[in-house]
Amino acid sequence: MLFIKFNPNNYREDFTVLSKNIRGQAPIYFDNACMTLRPKQVVDKITEYYNEYPGCHGRSGHKFGAKVTIEFDKARRSVQKFLGAKHKDEIIFTKNATEAINLVAHGMDLQDGDVVINSDREHSSNIVPWLELHKDRGVERIYIPSKKDETFDLVAYETELHKNKGKVKLVSIVYTSNLDGYTLPVKDIIKRAHRYKIPVLLDAAQAAPHQEINVQELDVDFLAISSHKMCGPTGVGALYGKRSQLEKLKPFITGGSTVVNTTYTNYELAELPARFEAGLQNYSGVAGFGVACEYLQNVKLDKISKHENVLTRYFQEKLTAIPKVKIVGVQDPRLRGGITSFVIEGMNYHDTALLLDEAANIMCRSGQHCLHSWFNSRKILGSVRASFYFYNTKQEIDIMIEALKKIASMSK
Ligand code: ALA
Repeated sequence: MLFIKFNPNNYREDFTVLSKNIRGQAPIYFDNACMTLRPKQVVDKITEYYNEYPGCHGRSGHKFGAKVTIEFDKARRSVQKFLGAKHKDEIIFTKNATEAINLVAHGMDLQDGDVVINSDREHSSNIVPWLELHKDRGVERIYIPSKKDETFDLVAYETELHKNKGKVKLVSIVYTSNLDGYTLPVKDIIKRAHRYKIPVLLDAAQAAPHQEINVQELDVDFLAISSHKMCGPTGVGALYGKRSQLEKLKPFITGGSTVVNTTYTNYELAELPARFEAGLQNYSGVAGFGVACEYLQNVKLDKISKHENVLTRYFQEKLTAIPKVKIVGVQDPRLRGGITSFVIEGMNYHDTALLLDEAANIMCRSGQHCLHSWFNSRKILGSVRASFYFYNTKQEIDIMIEALKKIASMSK
């Protein structure tokens, strides 16, 4: 079989911003875990809505309204296909993965003494909703401490499932970590939860853009994603839920679109998915999200994963040769997809990131990456995070390494 090497340059032209000239140099965008860049195809789809059919879906019978309904439905089918969902009404459009998680948290009717299980490396979006439910209703949150090497501890997880038999109502866990790109053994996590008849919600914001996902193969109950991390616009995301699970949820934002009828004293809820999509929607954004899903499927998710990890291993080899650099989180680059968090000893992580930007337009995120609990528990103040995507190249990494050598030599 002929093996064709993945070439990021085949895609770079789709991303107009990559050819921008900033003080004589192109940008080097390594903040893809925060949000990715958007290809022309997605930007064109967003403007197409405003230029061609700026109406609203599902209510006005005129030409603009009818076209928006077609486009909205098409986008839902694209997300359905991307995730391998059985039915299109299992896809609920939200503002982002955070809202998708909140939809489940507030829709489940959890009560005093019910338990939700997290890992110890959750984004704030998968901690705060549960802590709120703890304050308001006495819902307990248990988190599973990682093993020494920072990977997921399946034995400790199994122990908690068993110990809290009958009380655990949901396992809500991150799929791929935004700290270091580590992917948790979600298939095993789901299988074990299902043995106890516990549903599982996956925060897949950082997984969906970087690896193939099939919700039916995973047999996952709920899965949350954000469009802005997968080449789509900001302000759009989705919740996947098995039909049987969504039917049990109570909508937590209600109003127009969520009902088929009201009287002065009562209302009749709409079917799925409309009952969860209150008010007029972000039509241009949803259409752009659909195109982003199609775009990524054309690039091919398995190729994206492989390319990112080639870059991560290349980066780590050169990075760890620089004195004073320490990797944060899982150390083995083969387990880390496309993300590397690191610190330079004796230098503030924000300063390192600013110096990288100053030196060669190298854009990384610095801080605690919405993972304060993880950093606080380990007494680490923060890190610089380089996160790669399929349009990044080894040449860009070489430029970053040369800049880092100079920056590290300035540390105390
Ligand atoms: N979760 C986003 C990040 O990791 C915001 O940067």
